[in-house]
Amino acid sequence: AATLDDLAQRTGRYFGSAVDNPELDDTAYADLLGSEFGATTPGNGMKWYATEPRRGVFDFTAGDEIVAYAKAHHLKVRGHTLLWHSQLPSWLTDGTWTADELRSILKNHITTEVKHYKGKVFAWDVANEIMNEDGTYRENIFYKTLGPGYIADALRWAHAADPKVKLYLNDYNVEGLGAKSDAYYALIKQLKADRVPIDGFGMQAHLALQYGFPSDMRGNIQRFADLGLDVAITELDVRMILPADTAKLTQQADWYAQVTDACLAVRRCVGITLWGYSDRHSWIPSVFPGQGAALPWDENLQRKPAYDAIAGALAAA
Ligand code: G3I
Repeated sequence: AATLDDLAQRTGRYFGSAVDNPELDDTAYADLLGSEFGATTPGNGMKWYATEPRRGVFDFTAGDEIVAYAKAHHLKVRGHTLLWHSQLPSWLTDGTWTADELRSILKNHITTEVKHYKGKVFAWDVANEIMNEDGTYRENIFYKTLGPGYIADALRWAHAADPKVKLYLNDYNVEGLGAKSDAYYALIKQLKADRVPIDGFGMQAHLALQYGFPSDMRGNIQRFADLGLDVAITELDVRMILPADTAKLTQQADWYAQVTDACLAVRRCVGITLWGYSDRHSWIPSVFPGQGAALPWDENLQRKPAYDAIAGALAAA
């Protein structure tokens, strides 16, 4: 039978799932990941705390393990992430840095990591979650010390280190029209006007039934594509307040189909990645107690209604 990635490939797209290193030891889980999907993203293994645990000392063990697994199973890899306010090593967050020092730390981090994964990842989330909900810049350590120019610098350094890899900005709550997606639209338009290398916009798509479906997701994807960008759905999951019941699982399936349809409607929406594919391994219950059941496979790796909804949407394209 055709896998989700087979069906996506027929439309010129990929269908992927994130994976965290410890999950590779779950053989049944890893096997299904390798057979059903065409792309993966390390859930944590390429983040700054993992890759540069001490200043100037790099450790690519976790990311390399996922790249090796991906190669063995013919999956493409999305690199995630070069720069983020979260999961930074303590040497970086605890230090006091001048602008020159921090700029050189950031440049070295990006250059070293991008060179290491040159030819091994097809895309990078260069900067992750750099905007607030109201569309102002998030005051992360880089913004506070370097000002908003750090974003263009990060993109330029990544491009210099690997001119072929696709460079993305990536965030959540940007799937629909709103202040946050408007801010990205304006920023990316300006970056393009300034000839800063940027190839794509990643919409994480951590959706929650209780908050409603994003407004005009298709139109929103289209406006970014019209800037001359690729768009990717990068971390899709659809959580609910537990316990799950038939009505919620049916609504969840409908949302998965709607996201898939929105991507399929825009030629430059290049692929969809789930943030893990099964309720067995998901970040949600520990961060949002009482919520979960967010993925298309259940804890026993059995398909839920969402699986059929995604497959149906892909097959109909
Ligand atoms: O590595 C330590 C381990 O040594 C320790 O024993 C254990 C005890 O709690 O914690 C481990 O660290 C955890 C880490 O994942 C690795 O498993 C952290 O506590 C935990 O907070 C961290 O969660 C990750 C989260 O990002 C951090 O914000 C999730 O796995 C990861 O899926 C999640 O991914 C993010 C994306 O990068 C960006 N978008 C949102 C998405 C969901 O939050």
